[in-house]
Amino acid sequence: MIALGCDHGGINLKKAVIDYLDKNNIEYVDYGCYSEDSVDYPIYAYKVATAVAKGEFEKGILCCGTGIGISIAANKVKGIRAAVVSNEFGAEMTRRHNNANILCMGGRVTTEADAVKFADIFLNTPFSSDEERHTRRVQMLSDIENGCFEVN
Ligand code: RB5
Repeated sequence: MIALGCDHGGINLKKAVIDYLDKNNIEYVDYGCYSEDSVDYPIYAYKVATAVAKGEFEKGILCCGTGIGISIAANKVKGIRAAVVSNEFGAEMTRRHNNANILCMGGRVTTEADAVKFADIFLNTPFSSDEERHTRRVQMLSDIENGCFEVN
């Protein structure tokens, strides 16, 4: 189950992702927004990120104009690793290496066709949990978040 959200700058990408999810029988909840009227992206980032952080969804996808603002907001929620992606390699690596749980994209910088490609890669690529260096690094992200990261 996937959580979706966007602001007005990302609504077209979100619609393209919804079309892809529907065609592939992937369940989702759409937390809005639902029109091109100007809205505040932190609201939608917060709704999706808190739902993902609580474990209600396996992953989330957020879209705004650049993908940047909505990713910054999502990353303020504990447990969230939100990644702005603008190419296929990034979509793959942020799953394999960062165990990203939210994909962020920008409707003013990414085409709908590319957004669907990135979403497909993101949703189908596993974390490299068998490679110790990646689990160690992702644990470090949590330690930073929890204020217990120690650098020698
Ligand atoms: C909205 O105009 C725009 O600022 C927003 O979609 C996003 O790009 C922010 O990072």
